Amino acid sequence: IKLRLPATKDGKRIYSISQFINDLRLSSNVLIITGAGISTSLGIPDFRSIQGLYNQLSHLHLNDPQLVFDINEFTKRPETFYSVAHLILPPEDKFSLLHAFIRMLQDKKQLLRNYTQNIDNLEYYAGIDPSKLIQCHGSFGTASCLTCRSRFAGPKIFNHIKQKQIPRCSSCWKNTQEAAISYGVIKPDITFFGEDLPKKFYKSIVNDSKKCDLVLVVGTSLKVEPVASIIDNIPRRIPRVLINKDPLPDRDFDLTLLGYSDAIASLICSKMGPEWSIPHHQFEQDLTSD
Ligand code: APR
Repeated sequence: IKLRLPATKDGKRIYSISQFINDLRLSSNVLIITGAGISTSLGIPDFRSIQGLYNQLSHLHLNDPQLVFDINEFTKRPETFYSVAHLILPPEDKFSLLHAFIRMLQDKKQLLRNYTQNIDNLEYYAGIDPSKLIQCHGSFGTASCLTCRSRFAGPKIFNHIKQKQIPRCSSCWKNTQEAAISYGVIKPDITFFGEDLPKKFYKSIVNDSKKCDLVLVVGTSLKVEPVASIIDNIPRRIPRVLINKDPLPDRDFDLTLLGYSDAIASLICSKMGPEWSIPHHQFEQDLTSD
């Protein structure tokens, strides 16, 4: 079945919600790019919104709040990250309606891949299969010692994070003062600025960009490379839809669905029909949180 291509009128592509719903019904290789916006309904702040993480760090007097995720800052002063990591520590065993929508696409064999920038690992609780998921910026799921590279289960350091303490690898950390400050420090396996993305990203993105037949971008400001340019490397004939609280006027989408991702996912499912209803017990929704 060939997807209907977005029509054009005097050069401008017109792509209506009903066309999108029709394409969603027909597509078998949906590529979804997600960001922090899909987890805010669970109380996890995003980064750049007014109430986002980067606006809660003025007390650190950093000239750029993104330094909390900078690898050089971390090796010199791990306390910078560990003084605020509790603010984005993910809840365990919770996920949003949007996560459940992605899982629904997977169950219907329509999900090609979910490229998430999120480090909260909530896709794991939503049952999104690791083969269908690329955690472009790593996740809190595991953590590693900077010195000996030993790997730990993420939750092992959650108590340290909650108490704003720096977790250290017992086999490396001697209680001697001469060891460098970063000696034996355990860092969550999240991609810091200055680090490369997981190899899995580069292994999948070229073929996925050729194979996808519909692109959804959800809950992201598309400000961070290389995820920000994924859509630029997908043939323009493939319909691309933005689902976001704020518009991205400088990016080229066929359709922008403005609003909360959970509410828009719910609207899409209602238009797709009864076999797309997502049972409410499956996800959490705190609609009071912005
Ligand atoms: N529904 C839909 N969109 C939302 C919602 C919501 N409930 N809440 C927030 N948003 C939107 C915001 O309008 C914003 O455009 O999600 C976007 C979040 O953008 P950012 O805060 O920049 O987060 P993100 O795009 O994921 O950041 C990318 O930056 O700091 C790095 O590594 C970090 O992965 C992160 C990367």
